[in-house]
Amino acid sequence: MANSSIRKFHEKNREGRIKEVSSFSGLSKEEIKILRNEGGIYFDEANNMIENAIGTISFPLGIATNFRVNDKDYLLPMSIEEPSVIAAASKAAKIAKKQGGFTMKPDDSYSIGQIQVVDVKAKSAISNIVKFEKEILKLANSKSKTLSKMGKGAKQVTCKKISSKAGPMLIVELLIDVGDAMGANVTNTMCEAVAQLIEKLTEGRAILRILSNYSTKRLVRGSAIFDEKELGGQQTVDNIILAYQFAVNDPYRAVTHNKGIMNGVIAVANATGQDTRAIEAAAHAYASRTGKYSPLTEWKKDKAGNLIGKIELPMAVGIVGGIVNVHPMIKTCTKILGIKSAKELACIMGAAGLAQNLSAMRALVSEGIQKGHMKLHARNIAVTAGVTSDKINEVTKRMIKEGNVSVHRAKEILKEL
Ligand code: MEV
Repeated sequence: MANSSIRKFHEKNREGRIKEVSSFSGLSKEEIKILRNEGGIYFDEANNMIENAIGTISFPLGIATNFRVNDKDYLLPMSIEEPSVIAAASKAAKIAKKQGGFTMKPDDSYSIGQIQVVDVKAKSAISNIVKFEKEILKLANSKSKTLSKMGKGAKQVTCKKISSKAGPMLIVELLIDVGDAMGANVTNTMCEAVAQLIEKLTEGRAILRILSNYSTKRLVRGSAIFDEKELGGQQTVDNIILAYQFAVNDPYRAVTHNKGIMNGVIAVANATGQDTRAIEAAAHAYASRTGKYSPLTEWKKDKAGNLIGKIELPMAVGIVGGIVNVHPMIKTCTKILGIKSAKELACIMGAAGLAQNLSAMRALVSEGIQKGHMKLHARNIAVTAGVTSDKINEVTKRMIKEGNVSVHRAKEILKEL
C-alpha cells in the first residue's frame, strides 16, 4: 500500500514534491504537465461557465501528507489562501496515524428536492400524493436514465404542511439517490418535471421546485484517536477538552471552532471542484440543529489519557458532473486522491475537518496560532514590498525576529541588504 507519510515532504522543492505525488498516485505525463503548467481553465471555458466573464483566477494548491482514512493512505490536495492550514492538517493526520488513522462512515448520497404547493384545493391532497407515489417517482426517474440504470434515482415522496403568515402550504419532498454526483442539477430537474403532476394531484399551484441544501440524508461521521504523548502530554489533552467545552457553551467560540473545521473541509472541496457554498450552508445549519449553534466535533479523553475526536456533518459532494469533468487541475487532484466514489471523498473531507480542528485547538492551547501564521504571512508581506526571491528568506527572518512584520520594514531591510 502506498504510504502517505513522505519524509521531509515540506523541505522538498516543487519538482521534488510533484515527483513524490506523482509516484504515490501514478500520475500520467499529461497530469504532471497539468500540475507544472498551473493547469487552470482557458478563458473560453470560463466564458461558457458563467456570465460576463472577464478572466480566471488562481489559488495556491498544496498537499497534506500522512492521511490514513478507513485503512487507506491518501495525499490530500488542498487549495486555500491561508497559511498553516496544510501543515496543521498534515501534523494532525500524522498523530492520528499512530493509532490507525481516521475511521469514517458516509451515508448513501441522498439528495432532497422540494416542491412548494400553495392554494391546495383537493381535500385528499396528501393521500393523493401517497397513492400516486409510484407515478411521481417514475416521472422523476424518466429524467435520468443514468441514475435509473444504476438502480439509483428518486426513491421516495413525502409531504409536510407548513402554516405561514402568507397562508398554508404543502411541501412535497423527493428523496433522490444521486450516486457519485453532487446532484443539484438532477434534483432540480426532477422537481421541475413532477411539479405539474403534483399540481394536478393537489389541485394546487407549485411555486418553488428546488433541492434543499440542508443535506441531512447525506452525512459523514467518524473519529480518530490522538495519542496523548504525541499531543504534548496530559496538560495539552486537558486544555484541548477545556477549549472544546468553551465552544460547546458559547456560540461565539463555536462559530470559530467550526470555521477551523471548515478550513480543512473547504480546502479539499476547492481542490476537487465542489460547491463550497452548499457544504458551508449545510454544515452551519447542522451545527444549529438542536436550536443552539454547537461544534461539529466532539472531544473526550479515553482511559489511557488519549484524546478522542468525533465529527459529524452533512457532506454533499460529487466526483462526476459539473466542473469535476472539465477542469484539468481538478481532474488531476481527484486522481491524486485516488478516489472511486463520492462517499470516499466525503470520508476524506470529514477527516480533513477533524484533523484541522485538532491542530487549531492544539496550537491555540499552546503557542497560539500567530507563530505559524506569521512565517508565511511575513513572506507575503516581503513579496508585496517588492523583495526578490533571493532575498526573501533573509528579509522574512529578520522581520519575524524583530516582531515587526510590515511592508515598510521589509522595504527598509531590503535597502540595508
Ligand atoms: C483560523 O483560520 C481558524 C482558527 O481560528 C480555528 C479555531 O480558532 O479553532 C484557528
